[in-house]
Amino acid sequence: MDGKKKIFSGMRPTGKLHYGHMAGALINWVKLQNEYDCYFGIVDWHALMSDYADSSKVAANCQEILLDWLAVGVDPNKAAIFIQSHVKQHAELHLALSMITPLGWLERCPTYKDQILNLQNKDLSTYAFLGYPVLMAADIMLYKSFAVPVGEDQGPHLELTREIVRRFNNFYGDLFPEPETLLTPSAKMPGLDGRKMSKSYGNALEIADDMETVWNKLRTMTTDPARYRRTDPGTPEKCPVWDIHKFFNKDEAELAEIHAGCTSAGIGCVDCKKKLMVHVEAMMGPIHDRRKRYEGDDKALREILESGAARARKIAEQTMDEVYAAIGLLK
Ligand code: TYM
Repeated sequence: MDGKKKIFSGMRPTGKLHYGHMAGALINWVKLQNEYDCYFGIVDWHALMSDYADSSKVAANCQEILLDWLAVGVDPNKAAIFIQSHVKQHAELHLALSMITPLGWLERCPTYKDQILNLQNKDLSTYAFLGYPVLMAADIMLYKSFAVPVGEDQGPHLELTREIVRRFNNFYGDLFPEPETLLTPSAKMPGLDGRKMSKSYGNALEIADDMETVWNKLRTMTTDPARYRRTDPGTPEKCPVWDIHKFFNKDEAELAEIHAGCTSAGIGCVDCKKKLMVHVEAMMGPIHDRRKRYEGDDKALREILESGAARARKIAEQTMDEVYAAIGLLK
């Protein structure tokens, strides 16, 4: 692995993963694992930041995420797959970075304000939740990740990470690279109601959903609101189903046909959705087969997490030695 550039990315175990996770991040991970030394963390401390009052599902959600990752093609023989809390250095670096992070940076972070507004059923006015991006910076910096494959919503967090890197390097010497953001073409996949696909909005198509469930959800999915009747012409660029088509449908000629059919009212929304289903089934079939193969194989799953954590720990220990030396703490 030496000599290869390193990449970290992570996902919160707050439930099963959905098509947005796959389109915005996982397809990139599956490609990047062939070229780079990749570290993919199931970030359970981050899940606790919002779910601390009922932590009963965090452990089970970690297993579900692991299954979803393996199903989509994240390969434990290439990437290190592990649970964030199994590599203690994440918490350690988080503490070190909290020393240098100005409160104003965190208070101004747009995702902080959004989350407080959107998740009003949870009390998020905690010390840890304000520091959410600091732990995220620690995750990334621990592996000196040169780039981070994420969806568009993580942009502000990565900007903050770069600021924390600059501040650390300024105080203690150049130790960390400023990580780039790596986006996919579907960096913001819409959900059934047209808003960003998100578990907390209840508008998600889950990776584990069977095809009947997917069709039942898709059938009622919002389309271009101007296409009120079948005879009204539509604008695909205003239709969230079109975004999903662009991810699943690689047949350029058919896409052009659908585009023309929509704008001329030649085809209806149900026809368009039926065409989409063919491509969803083709992509999800092998994914579901792989998920089934791992389901229940607790021994294999445990081994993947143990060897992933061991690999991650090696790098994490090395980085923390350098951090202590750079700050100048007594050995
Ligand atoms: P999380 O768990 O909310 O989402 C995981 C990844 O999926 C992407 N994503 C989407 N992309 C496109 N369209 C969507 N509708 C969609 N929904 C989710 C997210 O952008 C993300 O890439 N803070 C992070 C977890 C994290 C992390 C890190 C990420 C913790 N430490 C270090 C990278 C590096 C989060 O909450 O992602």
